Formats: sequence, C-alpha cells, structure tokens
Amino acid sequence: MDNYYGLVPRPRSVTAADGFFAVSAAFIECAAEFGETAAVCAAQLTEAGLACASGANGTGTANIRICEDAGVAHGEGYVLVVASDGITIRASRTAGVFYAFQTLRQLVMSAAEWYGCAAEGNGCAAEGNGRPAENPVPVRLPCCRIADEPAYEWRGFMLDTSRNFYPASFIKKVIDALAFHKLNRFHWHLTDDQGWRLYVPEYPLLTGIGGFRGDFRAKWVGKTGGFYTDAEVSEIVEYARLRNIIVVPEIETPGHSSSVLAAYPGLGCTGGPYQVEKRFGVFDDVLCAGNDDVFKLYDAVFDTVCRLFPGPYVHIGGDECPRTNWKTCPKCQARMKAEGLRNEDEIQSWMTVRFASMLEKRGKIPVGWDEVLDGTERLGLPESMIVQSWRGIQGGVKASKLGHKVIMSPQTNGCYLDYKNYDDDSEPGWINSATAETSYGFSPIPEGSGIDASFVLGGQGNLWTEVVYASRIAEYMMFPRLCALAECLWLPEREKDFDGFAGRLGCHKKRLETLDLRYYRGKLR
Ligand code: ACM
Ligand code: ZN
Repeated sequence: MDNYYGLVPRPRSVTAADGFFAVSAAFIECAAEFGETAAVCAAQLTEAGLACASGANGTGTANIRICEDAGVAHGEGYVLVVASDGITIRASRTAGVFYAFQTLRQLVMSAAEWYGCAAEGNGCAAEGNGRPAENPVPVRLPCCRIADEPAYEWRGFMLDTSRNFYPASFIKKVIDALAFHKLNRFHWHLTDDQGWRLYVPEYPLLTGIGGFRGDFRAKWVGKTGGFYTDAEVSEIVEYARLRNIIVVPEIETPGHSSSVLAAYPGLGCTGGPYQVEKRFGVFDDVLCAGNDDVFKLYDAVFDTVCRLFPGPYVHIGGDECPRTNWKTCPKCQARMKAEGLRNEDEIQSWMTVRFASMLEKRGKIPVGWDEVLDGTERLGLPESMIVQSWRGIQGGVKASKLGHKVIMSPQTNGCYLDYKNYDDDSEPGWINSATAETSYGFSPIPEGSGIDASFVLGGQGNLWTEVVYASRIAEYMMFPRLCALAECLWLPEREKDFDGFAGRLGCHKKRLETLDLRYYRGKLR
C-alpha cells in the first residue's frame, strides 16, 4: 500500500491484503480494563459514519475485538488487523488500543476512497461511507495489517490562551484533533501579560482584573478576555485523559506577568500603576524578586494548579524576562545581597529554583523555557527540571549535556505555528513564515548538533496567539503544519518522506473537513 491509506501520521508498517470488511454496525468487545477507551472510540467511530457500540466480553456479537497482548512491547503501540469477517486490535496498554482506534477512525472517515476500487487502492471516490441511520450502506474497509508505535514519548502542542481567549468548547475540539494525530501532550499556556485564565480562590483579582484587557483594534472601551472555571478545567483534563493526553499547565514566571501586576500591583518592583497589556511584546514590569508576597501568591496558585491538573508536569515559563527593574529596585538589590547573588541573571536563576522547588514539594516535575539555563552556571538548575528549547536548538543541546530532559520546539525549525503558513502579505501570522515542508523538516534530535539523544523526550508545535483573534484562525495556523509535526514525532527520522506526506495530505484534508477543522490550502513548500 504505497500511500498508507492516506493515514497521518503514517503508521510504521502497513500491509495490504485482498478484500474488504463490509460493516453496517460495529460492536467492540473487550476486557473491562479497556472498556472506558472502547466507549470513547465507539462514539468517535459512530461520529465518523460507522454506527458502533461497545461492551464487556461475552455481551454481544463482536466484530471488533480487543486483545491484550504483552507482546506489543510499546505501551502506545498496536497491531490492527482488518479481515473480511472483522477487526482485531492487539495492544499491551489502553494507549495502544486508543491509537489503533484513531487509525481505524481515519480509515472509516475515508472509506469512500476505497469503495469498489481495491485494485487502484486509494484515490477512487465513490459512495459508500453513508449515514448508517437512514441509509445503512455498509462501510467498506480495506483488509490490511497495521503494526505501529511512536518514535518519541513527548508529542506536544501548545496553545496560548492568554493573548486571546478561547472557550472551553474549543479547547476540547483542539484536544480531540491532537488525539486524532496521535499527539499526547497539551501544553496549556494559561497566563501572560495579556490575560490570566485560571481562577484562584485566594486571589480572585487574578481573573477578576487580570482576566480582561482592552483591545486596541476596537473603538469601544469594553474589555475582552475571560477565564476557565474549575468545572471547565476538570472537564478538559478528563476529556484529555480519555484521549491519552496529559495536560501541562503553564503559569508564567517571572516575566510576562503584567496581568498579575495589574491585579496585585504590590508584587511589582515599582508599585505600578500597571495594566493588563493590550500591546504585544516583552515588558519591563516583571515579578519583584525581593517581595515575599510574590511567593505567597504562587503558593496559592500552585495549590490550585495541583488540585486541578493531576498530570506530572507544571510549566513555569521563564522566557523573556528583562532585568531592568531588578537593577534599581531596593528590594531586589537587598535580595541579591542576602542570597549572595552576583548579578541580575542570578536573580532569575534564584527565582527559578524557588518556584521549581515549590512544585517539587507538591510532587510535580517543573518545565521551563530555555532561558532558565541562563545565569545558572554557579547556582545550577533544579535537577528534575525539563528544559523546552525554543530560541533555536542550542538550549536543548546545552540542557541535555547538563543532564536535563529536553522538549524540542525551536522557532527556527517550523515548530512555531504563529508564523505565517507562507511568506505572503495576505497570510495571517507574524514575525516570520514557515511552510509545511519546514515543519516536516523538524527533528527533535538534529543531526550533527551534539545533543545527547538519551535526554530528548520529543517535541512540540507552539501556537502563540497575539494575532489569532478567533478559534477559526487558530485552526488555520495549526493545519496542516501540525499534521507534519505529528508525523515528525511519530516516525523515526529515517522513515520520513515529505513527498509521501504531501500525497497523503490530499486524503487527510478531507478528514480535517469532516472534523470541521479549517486549514491552510496554499503551497506546502
Ligand atoms: C517564547 O516563544 N517566548 C517561549
Ligand atoms: Zn523588585
């Protein structure tokens, strides 16, 4: 099967067999431990056009069977066999079962592509993937054997919900789209200069004031923004868990903090006044290192974060923090003296250690942008800290050599999805451009870089949203470049093939349409 049934990310191995499995209604049978996953996937298949139910072993006449198989060594790996009389999924863990179903979901969504044209394989559009309720035309799936597993453990996507706010319903739509592409980390950028999005009961002004900003595009004086309630966060975290996605919340420190300072001006070096920024960029007003009330507030913030986010990771930002005010602030200078810090770079390092240890005490693994490496020569970086490389690949290379785990998301290599899809004035986006081919060229372990591969967890696409005023624009910036990144994180570098990917996108774009996801339709290279 040359084009792998248009599957994205491309499975490691696809072997086509003769014939079809024609199915009008599917029933998934599995052991209790897979029941929750089977129920989620049955609903997904039904949505995709194949009426599907699920139940425990012995409750029905199954035509989709899930078998626990310790022989499938990778926990996220699976073997999916489509035969003329049914489908079998083998996996050792629920994650693998879930991914087998995501592959099946893609096959079902594109079933019309193969109907009645086995010899030609893909590319033959015909009727067939009907609406089962009114018109029970069987879905015809090509007989095949697919054996699959990911190359990287961390396959992430970051959405900035501070610069612009998106409703919880859109966050769930994004999470489902990530799962569809076998991505497994949702990095949720919850705070920045332009808005604080997490309700913290001890500090209600974080969202009450910090959650809303002016809009320089508007003639009216009203504010834009919002925040996520506890109930919304919990629903999103659970929705993600059911889709093998760990949510990684990001609380920015010590820069990009205008929204905190607008709410609690005493936490800045100058005392203000401050505003929730409606401008975009890097601002001098950052958290005062000399004021213990700062750490009191973040204690409460981290309590809320740990109550709502059960995952092992919490991101503490650390990027783009000017030292300007620290240089003249008497409290910061007193802190430097008291702690024996030699320069203002070491202030950030000292704060990083303090925030990280607050999280470690709560049983979390801290993550920081690559600036957390700066100024740490003498003080060191907390051992458990994961470094996310964004300014290029050098942060990742350095961190790996220091023995830190690394997430690669270099802006220079197609991981920044706020860049235009193409270098054209009519395209939305800013700063730069990156084509799908650029994104496809991304490798978490860049050849010749000297990076210690054993510390590289994987990589991420990041969508900053300064100019992403609506969720539809967010989708347009994500796709199809996120499809390319998903494949870079699923396949080993040697198996990647941009032409093959571009060919499969023809089929895959129709799936994006079925999922009501907007995407860039122009040049890929
Ligand atoms: C970043 O792009 N400032 C992490
Ligand atoms: Zn200060």
